[in-house]
Amino acid sequence: QTCILIGAPVDSGKRRPGCLMGPDAYRTAGLAQAIQSLGHKIKDLGNFTPASHPADSDDGPLFAPNETIGWTNRLIRVAEEAMDRGLPIFLGGDHSLSLGSVVGVANHAAKQGRPQFVLWLDAHTDYHTPMTTDSGNLHGTPVGYFTGRPDFGGFPKVTSPVPQENVCMIGLRSVDTPERESLQGTGIARHDMREIDEQGIVRPLTAFLERVAAENGMLHVSLDVDFIDPEYAPAVGTTVPGGATVREAHLVMEILHDSGLMTSLDLVELNPFLDERGRTAHLMVDLCASALGRHVFDRPTRSFR
Ligand code: ARG
Ligand code: MN
Ligand code: MN
Ligand code: MN
Repeated sequence: QTCILIGAPVDSGKRRPGCLMGPDAYRTAGLAQAIQSLGHKIKDLGNFTPASHPADSDDGPLFAPNETIGWTNRLIRVAEEAMDRGLPIFLGGDHSLSLGSVVGVANHAAKQGRPQFVLWLDAHTDYHTPMTTDSGNLHGTPVGYFTGRPDFGGFPKVTSPVPQENVCMIGLRSVDTPERESLQGTGIARHDMREIDEQGIVRPLTAFLERVAAENGMLHVSLDVDFIDPEYAPAVGTTVPGGATVREAHLVMEILHDSGLMTSLDLVELNPFLDERGRTAHLMVDLCASALGRHVFDRPTRSFR
């Protein structure tokens, strides 16, 4: 397997700066070495820049929409091309990078005639549109965008939206009222922390992976740092207490590896400026390694067919 590292220092999706340092923090924490030690090849494409775009103004309800549109244009192309060459790993950068990464991989899946699935590991649903967001922060909108919600004027047109039924969210504990209302009646699977506490994290995950396998789908995994409890992962602007434990997060990644289904990955919202001696960056690298096969003991392969 060839892993393609795509530095996406996107910092325009919210007001608090720092995520632009994410890609280099992952490299400093040894991401490439960790992946190579598992027997994979690495191609690091370096850090990208947004496509050219008009300057943003300070007025208007949205924060830095033009820069985020520039990033979306750039990352759609980069994602489409990388899918032909291996497993892209998008090194964020804030979660607005997923407007580009997911639409790009979904375009590629459509060309292959295969359905695209998305596993969203996050405290938040990020299901806003530019019309419903209160904060004006576009990192709260990627799921709305790639599932084809309206009102993304100025953004590239989403020609292969990810069907709602193909999206599974795990880790939820902070959902805004307009998001909750518009999620009502959609086919998006939503697993909050209450459910994880009561039932465990394996059940919703394996149910979803069985569907991906049954439909021969492509699987994009989007891992937001705030999926994990801030006790273990403090380097994120939008901390929400009561998140996944270190073991719950690793277990998700380990089962993903066993499934053999993951075809692309985002590592998003790391803000190294808020970290403590690199511990969050190291945890994210370790989680990525688990998703790519790091384990203590061998186990029989798990089949989801
Ligand atoms: N729902 C809030 C908002 O729209 C928080 C979004 C947090 N998103 C994230 N990717 N961290 O502002
Ligand atoms: Mn998010
Ligand atoms: Mn989040
Ligand atoms: Mn293995």
